[in-house]
Amino acid sequence: MTGKAERPRTQVNAMTQPDKTANLKSLTRAKDADPDWPSGWHTLEGGIRVGRYIDPKFLQLEFDRLWPRVWQVAARVDEIPAVNDFTTYEIGDQAVFLVRAEDGTVRAFHNVCPHRGTALTEGAGTFAHGNIICPFHGWRWNTQGDNQYVLAREEFHGGKLCNADVALKPVRCEVFAGFVFINFDPDCIPFEAYIAPIRGFLEDLNIGEMRHYWWKSIPIPANWKVAQEAFFETYHVPATHPQLETGAADFIFGATMEEEYANFSHHRVDYEAFEHGHGRFYAGANTPMQGKVNMEGQTNPVDAMADRLQLLVDGMDAQVLQADVDLLRTLRDKPIPEGSSLGAEYIRVLYADAAVRQRPMPKPTPETLGMWGGEVAIFPNVMILPQAGNAMIYRVRPHATDPDRCTFEIYSTRTLPAAAERERAEVIPVTDLADPDQVYQIPRQDLGNLKRIQKGLHSRAIRQVWLASHHEKLILAMHRELDRYLKE
Ligand code: FES
Ligand SMILES: [Fe+2]
Repeated sequence: MTGKAERPRTQVNAMTQPDKTANLKSLTRAKDADPDWPSGWHTLEGGIRVGRYIDPKFLQLEFDRLWPRVWQVAARVDEIPAVNDFTTYEIGDQAVFLVRAEDGTVRAFHNVCPHRGTALTEGAGTFAHGNIICPFHGWRWNTQGDNQYVLAREEFHGGKLCNADVALKPVRCEVFAGFVFINFDPDCIPFEAYIAPIRGFLEDLNIGEMRHYWWKSIPIPANWKVAQEAFFETYHVPATHPQLETGAADFIFGATMEEEYANFSHHRVDYEAFEHGHGRFYAGANTPMQGKVNMEGQTNPVDAMADRLQLLVDGMDAQVLQADVDLLRTLRDKPIPEGSSLGAEYIRVLYADAAVRQRPMPKPTPETLGMWGGEVAIFPNVMILPQAGNAMIYRVRPHATDPDRCTFEIYSTRTLPAAAERERAEVIPVTDLADPDQVYQIPRQDLGNLKRIQKGLHSRAIRQVWLASHHEKLILAMHRELDRYLKE
């Protein structure tokens, strides 16, 4: 990244685009489409030109104009739970380290020694006695970033070296909802304004209390936006996860000719795009939590709902956990009181159990319960999928130089009972995406498609992807916000 330097237009226009003009029906350009941009980069009225996913120059533009200026999640707080704990965050060729200072606050610094440039940290660890020591010549700082020691100090700057010359360079940093957000740009939009459209959802869902259960990092052979957009809609569920939507899958894959599209449970989802590129989808009153249980082949509603949720436990070990389904099954032979519903009874036992164990839970309002099984997307690259005091969190980061690669992280989180031990979060690197022991079924299905998508996007026979006006609207909204960063 090169900070805020203006990117010369001539350089942008000089790129060579693959010829993708042969006989293709074209979507209309958005009204504000920039005529100076390569046509392969345009966000359209109902689609996206594929250069945005495959062109190395577009990736570079993102590194020049998006990542140096946008608020971004650098860590979860439980990566640095104790004083002097640190972790390193990398985006492109830039890195910062985050440290928990003595007063409990989190500070972020550019990861570079002001002497001769050594990166001060790698990965995560703890600064013994709060000393940040450069491994090259041993210069030292405290966790406030103040220099404490320079060997042969008198030899520098004519003997007048002062702290300001060699203090660590801070990066803007805010803790919210259990995330540490950073922004490289000292003149960036205030964090409060950036997060305002989704603040209420994240607070009511109690995402700030979610603690690490497991966390994996997966190298993916696809552009970071391709990877992210696989999780921006439920439109893919019948084909990608046929076990979750058997009726629809039977139709799609030809086992039956009866299409009941409007009844597919993943069709009954609302999408909402917010200012600053954030978004959400949610089932609202259509969630099982509000009594809408899909009975498909079952006679007992508890079994029907529990078997459905069990697919999520077995397929993700996140968002819905085994203890939740076990609690649901305790309702099997109990009558549902007059005026209640199975969903309401499930909520009741979940919250009663949480109360006994003093475990924080989401606010039990219809609005918040309607978000369970949905998603909140934080621009530009984090998604939160909440459930009963649990949340699955995704973060996706571009490869530093290759538009066809990214890193996808999955965090399974949950709130903890008061008495539970708080463990420091540690990432588990996944070496083989196809290995069922390393990646659970549902994310393996989602992520397994990405290589084929990225490969297809390079075809000379595709100029743009088409986006559904309802189900894929968050994708379009994300690209519009991305364009704002790239063009301003
Ligand atoms: S490079 Fe860090 S002390 Fe010399
Ligand atoms: Fe999926």
